[in-house]
Order: sequence, then structure tokens, then C-alpha cells
Amino acid sequence: MRDYLEVAVEAAKLGGDVLKRYYGQKKTIEYKGEIDIVTEVDRRSEKLIVDHLASRFPGHSILAEEGTHKVQQSEFKWVIDPLDGTTNYAHDYPFFGVSVALERDSEVILGVVYHPVFEELFVAEKANGAYLNGRKIGVSKVDRLRQSLLSTGFPYDVEDDSSEALRHFENFIHAAQAVRRDGSAALDLCYLAMGRFDGFWELRLKPWDTAAGALIVTEAGGQVTDFSGNGYSIYQDQIMASNGLIHGQMQKVLDLCHVKSTLEQ
Ligand code: IPD
Ligand code: CA
Ligand code: CA
Repeated sequence: MRDYLEVAVEAAKLGGDVLKRYYGQKKTIEYKGEIDIVTEVDRRSEKLIVDHLASRFPGHSILAEEGTHKVQQSEFKWVIDPLDGTTNYAHDYPFFGVSVALERDSEVILGVVYHPVFEELFVAEKANGAYLNGRKIGVSKVDRLRQSLLSTGFPYDVEDDSSEALRHFENFIHAAQAVRRDGSAALDLCYLAMGRFDGFWELRLKPWDTAAGALIVTEAGGQVTDFSGNGYSIYQDQIMASNGLIHGQMQKVLDLCHVKSTLEQ
């Protein structure tokens, strides 16, 4: 396990260093959708990370956002976002990072998220706690939603979802102390894990957005579920994460949206 963690940290730093090197410079941008972009730096970062992992563990499967999908007869699979927060990156807004996670038999056992501008390295191993730059971290102790700072994000197809995501946002604005939308789900989860945020929710994230961050939250003592409070899988499209103390209160707000939309049909 030590070996896996060491190599995952090396890979995340290789990717992060590239993001930092080109940060603030003009980038070539390609459009995957109307507002969904990718830069050449996303691809460079992915190549470095994937090459490093594949050179150390040639038998492992790999799933990465910008196209690497290597399927092998292996119990191990690396799940990678080489640049989480691409829109921020393209606008020189310094909130983005690299996310590297390892699944064993479909369970995430290790997660690393690296924010290269602030040099913050978050790591967690299953049953071994969560750490920021080597120091153990834990979730906040806020137990009232009204005193909580939450974060969220919006899927790139937010226009097509009959404002479900916007309704959630509006209801949480009324129920919490404040809500942030910072543009990197992996970092949002890490900020929750170390107590800067008290809760997080989002719709239609991808496995590479949450694989490392969700483990970091649970290893920091937090809770991660779907919107109904059921166990979370990185392959499903709802995530609700919190310090555990406000989880039920967050669920009620999400239920409220569900009840309203059912009544409206
Ligand atoms: C995005 C970020 C953002 C979230 C989007 C993701 P990307 O990832 O995590 O916070 O709201 O849904 O797709 O595209 O920057 O890797
Ligand atoms: Ca992402
Ligand atoms: Ca990405």
C-alpha cells in the first residue's frame, strides 16, 4: 500500500507541476461542449500521470478524463482527473488541482488531490485517516445548517436539467449561512475534509471528479452518500457530503426540491 501511495503522490505532483508551469500563460482551448472546455495542459498533465503510473504498475487498469481508458485483467484501477477546475485554469483563477485515486475490486482505497498553486497535498488511505501536507485533518464540528458554509457546482448541461440544480442552489442559499461555487469538486471535497466547508452536494459528477475527494472526506470523519442518504458510489450521479452532523438537515433541503418538483408535474 505504501508503494501505491508514494507513486500516486509522485504522479499527482508531476501533473500539478505542469499545471503550475503553464498557469497564467495563453492556452489553446478546445470545446467539448458549448461551455465544456479542455486545454492542451489537461492533456499534458494526463500523459505524465498515466505514463508514470503505467511504468510502475503496467498490469493495472486506468480510467482518466481526457481519454485514457486502459482495461486490464486486474483488481486495481487508477481513476484520474488531470486538471479538475479547467474553466478556472483557463481564466487564471487559482482554484484547480489534480486528482488521483486507486480502486481495488471496485472500492476506492487511496486518494490524492494536489493543489499546485497553494502547494496543498491531500491524501487518504482506506482506514488510515486523511492528511494535508502530512498533518492529520478532520471535518468541522458545526452542527446547524444555518451556521454552515456549503459548496457545490453545476454540471455543464445545467441548461437542460429544468433547473433542478438551480432549485437546490436556491433552497440551500435560504437554509445555510452561505454557499460557494468554486469550480473544482475534488478541492471542494478536500476543503470539507479539513473543515473549511461543512457540506457539499452536486449532480452528475464523473468518477474522476470525486474518487479521491470522497475517500478523503470519509477518512477525515465525514459522511458521503447520495441525496437520499444511501451509500455513495463514484459511478452514480448524486453526491451529498458533509461533516456528518448536518447530513440529515442537508437531506431535508434536497427532499424539499424533490417534493416540489413532484408536485409541479
Ligand atoms: C468540473 C469541476 C466543477 C464541477 C463540474 C466538473 P473539470 O471538472 O469539478 O467543480 O462543477 O461539474 O465537471 O471539467 O474542471 O475537470
Ligand atoms: Ca473534473
Ligand atoms: Ca478535468
